[in-house]
Amino acid sequence: MLEKEKVPKDVLDHIFKLIIGRRTELKLMIRAVEKGLPIIIEGPVGTGKTEMAKVLASSLDRLFVRVDGDDSLTSIKLKGWYDPPLVLERGFSRETFISGPLTQAMEEGGIFFYNEVNRAPSETINAVLTALDEKLITIPQLGEIQAKPGFLSIFTYNPQDTVATNPLPMAFYDRCIWVYVSHQNLEEMIDIVKLRTDSDDELLIKISCEIVQATLNHPELEMGSTVRGAIQLVELHKSEETIEEESLLDKVIAVHSRKIRCKTTSKKTESEILEEIVSKILSNYEEDKIIRKKEQ
Ligand SMILES: Nc1ncnc2c1ncn2[C@@H]1O[C@H](COP(=O)(O)OP(=O)(O)OP(=O)(O)O)[C@@H](O)[C@H]1O
Ligand SMILES: [Mg+2]
Repeated sequence: MLEKEKVPKDVLDHIFKLIIGRRTELKLMIRAVEKGLPIIIEGPVGTGKTEMAKVLASSLDRLFVRVDGDDSLTSIKLKGWYDPPLVLERGFSRETFISGPLTQAMEEGGIFFYNEVNRAPSETINAVLTALDEKLITIPQLGEIQAKPGFLSIFTYNPQDTVATNPLPMAFYDRCIWVYVSHQNLEEMIDIVKLRTDSDDELLIKISCEIVQATLNHPELEMGSTVRGAIQLVELHKSEETIEEESLLDKVIAVHSRKIRCKTTSKKTESEILEEIVSKILSNYEEDKIIRKKEQ
């Protein structure tokens, strides 16, 4: 499947099976892929940005190159470099130039997936800009390399992540199709946890997701937890016989207390809020006193 061709139905079905919900966003992204437009997926921590980009990129029948942003990822590492011994032997040429991931994706008409692009130094982002709209890259001694048809870029970015990150320039947004994702609702979260764990314990999965939703909607929290927390809690608790407050609470605190953050106006600690949430949610299931994990 090359640029400006329709994504086949079986590929769409495959993508929709691996990503729960997100139909509007995925359809938008697929349209952008069909038109060869760069995509930036933006959203808070744990909202499935990397998963969506990974599934989309790997479902298309093209070379797929992934890089993860960090401050050591210079534009040279991204574009490529000359191999010194080879240059001494044969001089500067295409043969002595080692392509970096961006050049590789461009030369082969592949997908360039840049995860957490705001962790890159700004000079690296500038190098990516011309590749985005003009679809060409300039290599010293070699000149310009034009991308083959099919070349496409997908980026992810969490604007709330402010440690070791750089703000993205307007010129970057100007070249991209922007897809925003937020936390999913209870039903979709339950389906995600079922897909991502091998647990068939419906009750544990439901309670784990209810805890996350309660943190996301809590008036005293400025930041709630994520579906990752629900997945982790199911993994930690699935071998237990029962779901009792006593055995669950330690794990809830271990999983969620550093993912959530209290508002400065709150008098409670994160652990106290989690304790209240767990006790309220479990009280909805109280008729069993001790909740058996498997219906017996
Ligand atoms: N809609 C979804 N369908 C299937 N799995 C999902 C979905 N959303 C999230 N997940 C799963 O939730 C977990 C977190 O998702 P992911 O790593 O993609 O989040 P992220 O937005 O990239 O987070 P971060 O900002 O921390 O990088 C992963 O295990 C992922 O497989
Ligand atoms: Mg990610």
